Amino acid sequence: MKKNILITGGAGFIGSHVVKLFVKKYPEYHIVNLDCLTYAGNLENLKEIENAPNYSFEKVNILDEAGLVKVFENHRITDVIHLAAESHVDRSITDPLAFVKTNVIGTVNLLNTAKSYWKDYSNHLFYHVSTDEVYGSLDDGGFFLETTPYDPQSPYSASKASSDHFVRAYANTYKLRTVITNCSNNYGPNQFPEKLIPLCIHNIRNNKPLPVYGKGENIRDWLYVEDHARGIDVVFHQGKSGETYNIGGFNEWKNIDIVRLLCQKMDEKLGRLSGTSEKLITFVKDRAGHDLRYAIDATKIQRELGWEPSLQFEEGISKTIDWYLDHQDWLDNVTSGNYQKYYEDHYGSR
Ligand code: NAD
Ligand code: DAU
Repeated sequence: MKKNILITGGAGFIGSHVVKLFVKKYPEYHIVNLDCLTYAGNLENLKEIENAPNYSFEKVNILDEAGLVKVFENHRITDVIHLAAESHVDRSITDPLAFVKTNVIGTVNLLNTAKSYWKDYSNHLFYHVSTDEVYGSLDDGGFFLETTPYDPQSPYSASKASSDHFVRAYANTYKLRTVITNCSNNYGPNQFPEKLIPLCIHNIRNNKPLPVYGKGENIRDWLYVEDHARGIDVVFHQGKSGETYNIGGFNEWKNIDIVRLLCQKMDEKLGRLSGTSEKLITFVKDRAGHDLRYAIDATKIQRELGWEPSLQFEEGISKTIDWYLDHQDWLDNVTSGNYQKYYEDHYGSR
């Protein structure tokens, strides 16, 4: 059976890398990118494949049940890779309900649509993309394993944990074939500059303060976004139905050390005197309920499916800085809001 894969959230940061990878690598598949284009959706991310014959875009909200059914029927969807979500922890603290709506109810809508549209479940897969934050916060020792009990601490992670539970419940109750991956912090091109790394790159470039929450002692485990997309490809094709796989780079950094590294590398790249950008570091009020440490044990996906990260962090960070410096227009369009006109300009008359 020909695969017509629905990728949700494909105009966002990670989703756009997954869409590009699948469209280019699998000309025999049809890739349908479904995204309602919130502030985080940016069709400019997909310029290089937007006219590919095996690609379609559907501007639909996952909260719109009838809209989902239409897309499944029109494109005869065979599989789902679900990334659409509200993704920013700080926003979840100010507006938790938006996260419940998209991340929980939206995911259940999508599960219901797949469950009703697909007849013989053995030929179809519902792949849910989740986060390491569902496991809670670590202190100095240990790693998150696939068997670590869920202990979400923020409204964002609570909503993602809930959606994971629904996916497992649909697998158990209705025998839908599902797979879940829980990934650590991603970085790389096309990330919305509200997240730590692109925010700092943008602010260093423009000599603006670098807001470090608390003392900057919190630890995150960073993975280059294209390595995550490759992991999704591997799990989609080789993962076992009903399983969970953690994805991460065994690459823990304190926030303050990341910010200093960015300052140092950008001083070099911008021809500034060493130490210039560090002066922009500003310690600000801590995030409410700020998780101390995340660290993924990615042994299972490495051992069972042979996936491992391809890029060392220093190389990935250097590539990332270069990308943002070379794509000042992308950042300008995002910060000015111009990127939101892309849909009307390019799809309005289609
Ligand atoms: P993002 O915020 O960059 O993109 C989210 C996309 O989803 C956007 O294009 C947005 O328009 C779309 N979207 C949001 N609400 C929607 C709705 N109701 N209907 C349709 N589309 C909607 O997010 P991201 O950082 O690329 O994360 C993608 C997925 O990966 C999320 O599920 C997130 O939880 C997960 N994840 C992210 C990270 C990370 O470090 N960014 C790490 C692990 C897991
Ligand atoms: O771990 C995976 C998660 O990583 C994903 O599920 C989320 O979608 C993604 O947003 C990310 O969450 P974080 O909260 O870890 O990412 P963020 O870039 O917002 O923050 C990284 C760390 O930097 C965190 O400890 C908070 C801190 N921070 C963040 C911002 C935006 C600052 O110190 N200053 C800032 O301005």
